[in-house]
Amino acid sequence: MAYTPRLKELMKKVEESRASRVGINYPRMSPDERRAVLQKFHPDFIEDGFRKIKVGVNKGARLPYEMADVFEAWSRLRDVKLDLQAKPAYDVDILIIGGGGAGASAALEATAAGANVMIATKLRFGDANTMMAQGGIQAADKENDTPAIHYLDVVGGGRFENVPELARALVMDAPLVIKWLEAMGTMFDKKEDGTMITIHGGGTSRKRMHAARDYTGAEIMRTLRDEVLNKGITVVEFSPAVEVILDDQGCAAGAVLYNLETEQYLIARAKTVILATGGSGRLHYRGFPTSNHYGATADGLVIGYRAGAKTIYADSIQYHPTGGAYPPQLLGLLVTEKTRALGATPLNINGEQFVYHLETRDVESSAIICECAERKLGVPLPTGITAVWLDSPLIELTHGEGTIERQLPAMLRQFHRFDVDIRKEPMLIYPTLHYQNGGLLIDENGLSNVENLYVAGETAGGIHGTNRLMGNSLLDIIVFGRRAGRDAAAKSKEMPVPEGLNLGHVDSYHRELEETGAADGRVSPILLPHYTHR
Ligand code: FUM
Repeated sequence: MAYTPRLKELMKKVEESRASRVGINYPRMSPDERRAVLQKFHPDFIEDGFRKIKVGVNKGARLPYEMADVFEAWSRLRDVKLDLQAKPAYDVDILIIGGGGAGASAALEATAAGANVMIATKLRFGDANTMMAQGGIQAADKENDTPAIHYLDVVGGGRFENVPELARALVMDAPLVIKWLEAMGTMFDKKEDGTMITIHGGGTSRKRMHAARDYTGAEIMRTLRDEVLNKGITVVEFSPAVEVILDDQGCAAGAVLYNLETEQYLIARAKTVILATGGSGRLHYRGFPTSNHYGATADGLVIGYRAGAKTIYADSIQYHPTGGAYPPQLLGLLVTEKTRALGATPLNINGEQFVYHLETRDVESSAIICECAERKLGVPLPTGITAVWLDSPLIELTHGEGTIERQLPAMLRQFHRFDVDIRKEPMLIYPTLHYQNGGLLIDENGLSNVENLYVAGETAGGIHGTNRLMGNSLLDIIVFGRRAGRDAAAKSKEMPVPEGLNLGHVDSYHRELEETGAADGRVSPILLPHYTHR
């Protein structure tokens, strides 16, 4: 669906002001201005979307309603009889739950350390937010940059709420991660002389974003998946975990898997368990559309929490400033931050810029929401919502013709399918639900407070404080996936096979639900969003 005549008419204002905007940087906000816009417009600061959870190890913590709903819910095993002492269907050193970038990285490191590893994944191996990541991966590996400068950006972006040890691990491992990926065959963008091309992202003080065009996540996942399969690591697909199993010491000792094809529950016993199931964007907090994969339904959070793993910043959600708003088929889909990194700027209905284009995501999104909701200067769309322009043709004017085709081929194609040529016409965007900043609290090796239960990737929390910067998610899945894989392998070597497998923690959780009346008939993990055909 191409732009309507009315939108084309409105677009003229953008075209008229374009030449005067080339090379001009809109002023950045002061710290006070940032704080003010966040507090007034960022959904994390608007209290009516939250409630206090009544059960579990973080009882009393503030959670978004949608997340509290899946936490305050019965286990899928409530009426299921399982013999946990029978011979398990799977018996391994390390059970990795989740087949995205974090799970694959963990599997590779653990296998290299000599452990017997299995990946169980809800859908196909690689069906994950990793595959959908676009703009890049950060690493301080240029002469004018250091991990210390990267660290300052990470904690500044994270509102100084990051767990320092985790942020430190993230930035210190980053240069090695790029080398590791390259050695396995990831094709990063390079100059003719072979040096890596690196650009800015929102909130970065150095150009340290490494990319593979605008499909960086797909390129990284391709490499990781090939490597896992080449190493012969067992991957069990269409088998989500529905509960963590503990042993008689209260340590993680496996999981109950649900085979989506045969509808059977199967026991996987393991000396250590790594939860790497991704985030929760498909819970559609506050009714926002999402850039997330269909599988992002908070499964790892839910089963980890029931097993006693503590959360951190679980009430902190990232709304990416540039979700597609029109054509309607693109609603909520990611328009990569790389578009702004290359110089595209957000504009209101008058063709005026109203915010610096590379503020951190929380601030940029809040400014866009303010422009539409308070200043009433958004562009009204035929679908009934308002949006703002993102002036992509400015990229061609600034960097030369052909830049978009070279650097943003996926974006170009995505819009071209609906007869919008982003080289000539600006995009229409509005914030989309993108990322879960918090999650289950881990240490530097990915270990949660439950013995032998590791967490990696978006399921984990603390690394990014309450706002992640672009390109630090593709980084964290690999940093903490590898760390968890290595530590779990070392631990598994010293351990006997776990005994006394049980789901006593689920029974206790059920008792709490009964006492508080909190579950209200809900069952979790939900595994797929409610509108997905089952
Ligand atoms: O905008 C993007 O390309 C997203 C990147 C990220 O979330 O790190």
